[in-house]
Amino acid sequence: MNLERVLPFVKKLLQNVIEDGDIVIDATVGNGHDTLFLADLVGPNGMVYGFDVQKKAIEATNRLLADYGYTRQITLFHESHAHVKRNIPVEEHGTIKSAIFNLGYLPGSDKKVITRPDSTLQAIQGLLEIIAVGGLIIVVVYHGHEGGKEEKDALLSYLSNLDQKVAHVLRYQFINQKNDPPFLIAIEKH
Ligand SMILES: C[S@@+](CC[C@H](N)C(=O)[O-])C[C@H]1O[C@@H](n2cnc3c(N)ncnc32)[C@H](O)[C@@H]1O
Repeated sequence: MNLERVLPFVKKLLQNVIEDGDIVIDATVGNGHDTLFLADLVGPNGMVYGFDVQKKAIEATNRLLADYGYTRQITLFHESHAHVKRNIPVEEHGTIKSAIFNLGYLPGSDKKVITRPDSTLQAIQGLLEIIAVGGLIIVVVYHGHEGGKEEKDALLSYLSNLDQKVAHVLRYQFINQKNDPPFLIAIEKH
């Protein structure tokens, strides 16, 4: 297929914006696959801040990153991403290059622990305050599970009304596929 699939497109956007030494955020750490990808992009002089409400996700990601020798450039918070702003050092506000969310639940884990509309929107609002101009917030919207539609609707309603002087918002989605595949929202701070 010549049209780029959603997840490779996400990786390409992150590779385009993130440089060696940057500060970035994984808002939904899970098993740490994105954290690892980000740690590789920022290198030993950068920093990846990660958030997850599940202790086992934080522990698994710490182990994964240690296996790759990437302990220096990560700081993980066992906390909701709703509190992103207060956890990032004030002197780094305005310098965050990118943040990524994978909404929904952790595959192979408790399907009741899902991202929720209120905290997801609170996190995006906090990020819009602390991200660099030109920085990218990427949201991979999984919406087929119970509660997913409500979160998707809340997110689209908020973002489609966001002032274009604040950010440009892109939606990248295949619209004729079965089984609610994930789609991408990319928010570039103006
Ligand atoms: C789809 S999974 C993330 C997958 C992950 N990116 C990976 O590579 O494995 C969603 C994660 O979000 C976490 N989560 C749910 N609510 C959260 C919140 N308010 N703040 C931070 N993480 C949250 C879940 O515990 C789960 O691990």
